[in-house]
Amino acid sequence: MPLKEKPAGRMISFEGPEGSGKSTQISLLATQLQKHGKDVITTREPGGTEIGEQIRNIIVHNSKGDEMCAETELLLFTAARAQLVREVIAPALVEGKYVLSDRYLDSSTVYQGIARKLASGPVAEINRFAVGNVMPDITVIVDVPPEVSMARLKQRVTDLPDRMERQNIDFYHKVREGYLLLAKQMTDRVILVDGTKSIEDVSKAVWEHVQVRLGL
Ligand code: TYD
Repeated sequence: MPLKEKPAGRMISFEGPEGSGKSTQISLLATQLQKHGKDVITTREPGGTEIGEQIRNIIVHNSKGDEMCAETELLLFTAARAQLVREVIAPALVEGKYVLSDRYLDSSTVYQGIARKLASGPVAEINRFAVGNVMPDITVIVDVPPEVSMARLKQRVTDLPDRMERQNIDFYHKVREGYLLLAKQMTDRVILVDGTKSIEDVSKAVWEHVQVRLGL
């Protein structure tokens, strides 16, 4: 197990569909926490380590990626996560840092489990194996309807959308339902925020929840 006892640091993961505004909210929360004297690091999944970046390339940018089966996808995402936990997250928590993670194990539960329909038992077991006992203190789910996230994605000046972003709208309805289900089931860990509100409003809601839950 990567952690022997409850570490001094705290971990907050952010979840939601592409285009939900997670990364903006992560940097705003990082600034707030730093103002409160906290030492903050941010990580992103898949990636965040050299091995993780290589895995990310295989999953996201592989031109033949459409042929990748859901099982392979799950194992690659969780492999990248296992590396990130041991190389970056657990050491930072032991040092008392605040770790803000752009996606974590709930992404596998929702994308590979619920949206790509892999059985929930094995997905949970593989996730647990990958993260050991390093669980987020708080998970912020930024909720936006698929139509909104799709419209935001189209506005981004990028080349051809990558493999994951080419999924159809039904897939994103399942992703959203999956996140809403997690928010209902895991009220002790999960906070649901309305991502259709303004950046400032979402950030305020996140900060209020974080302050209450972490006693800041
Ligand atoms: P990325 O370009 O990093 O998108 P985002 O900014 O939305 O996080 O691509 C990550 C993609 O991988 C995204 O479509 C979600 C997907 N994903 C999974 O399907 N399972 C996972 O476990 C993780 C971490 C991500």
